[in-house]
Amino acid sequence: MPSQLKRLLVLGVIIISLFLLLKHLATPVSFGQYGHYRGNSLNEIAALPVKYVGSKTCVKCHDSIVALKLEGLHSDIQCENCHGPAYLHIKTPKKDKLFRPDSREFCAKCHSFNKARPEKAVTQQDIKNHHPEKKCITCHNPHQP
Ligand code: HEC
Ligand code: HEC
Ligand code: HEC
Ligand code: HEC
Repeated sequence: MPSQLKRLLVLGVIIISLFLLLKHLATPVSFGQYGHYRGNSLNEIAALPVKYVGSKTCVKCHDSIVALKLEGLHSDIQCENCHGPAYLHIKTPKKDKLFRPDSREFCAKCHSFNKARPEKAVTQQDIKNHHPEKKCITCHNPHQP
């Protein structure tokens, strides 16, 4: 075997060994325990604090609002989309108040004109000229608009 090939072989073996060593050092211990991800990540994700509870939880204390909303055009929107995460609120409602999204800007997030928004999915309104200076909720009930 020509000597330059031998050197190339030795160099190849060194590079591959170095790669395997670095891969071993850089791979977290629990990687591959269940699949192609870190096994420990499951516990870490499960330990994250819960924030959202879902609209069904509100029935217990706000049944009339839940019923009203189901009849109207906002029926598909989750309560917490407008009021924010309610995990603490359902435990201590007097202490942990929820957001009251009564500003025009809030409704405009979904209803202002936006070319990227499908007109058929959400009715768009010319917010600047549609009864300005009044809050939207003076005329539209947010739970049954
Ligand atoms: C489109 C946004 C929106 C959605 C969805 C929504 N709300 Fe509201 N909610 C509002 C706004 C705005 C107010 C403030 C009304 C006001 O101040 O008169 C409000 C007020 C309330 C209040 C206080 C009522 C009062 O008389 O003080 C309760 C309770 C409430 N919402 C519960 C719910 C529940 C339960 C759901 C789901 C079934 C829900 N909301 C869904 C926008 C929303
Ligand atoms: C265990 C009963 C209970 C549950 C469950 C509950 N609420 Fe309430 N909620 C209350 C009470 C009581 C008040 C009035 C608090 C006050 O007047 O200090 C209130 C007030 C509110 C208000 C007015 C703003 C505030 O925080 O005072 C909103 C908005 C609201 N709730 C939304 C919701 C939504 C949305 C859900 C479901 C995700 C929900 N609530 C679930 C008991 C509950
Ligand atoms: C998360 C997005 C979202 C937010 C926030 C929201 N809406 Fe809506 N709204 C909808 C969807 C979806 C519909 C049902 C489809 C439609 O008719 O546009 C709807 C329907 C309506 C309608 C009836 C439109 C029609 O076709 O007759 C009115 C009025 C309305 N909303 C007013 C409001 C007001 C006032 C607020 C603020 C308190 C608000 N919306 C906040 C998504 C939203
Ligand atoms: C002074 C009362 C008043 C105020 C304030 C008001 N609206 Fe309206 N809105 C109406 C009336 C009346 C209609 C139905 C006639 C029309 O289309 O103008 C309507 C219609 C709508 C529609 C449905 C349009 C359609 O094509 O069916 C949407 C969406 C809407 N409003 C959203 C809003 C939003 C968002 C706000 C706040 C930025 C708001 N409105 C403020 C009275 C009001």
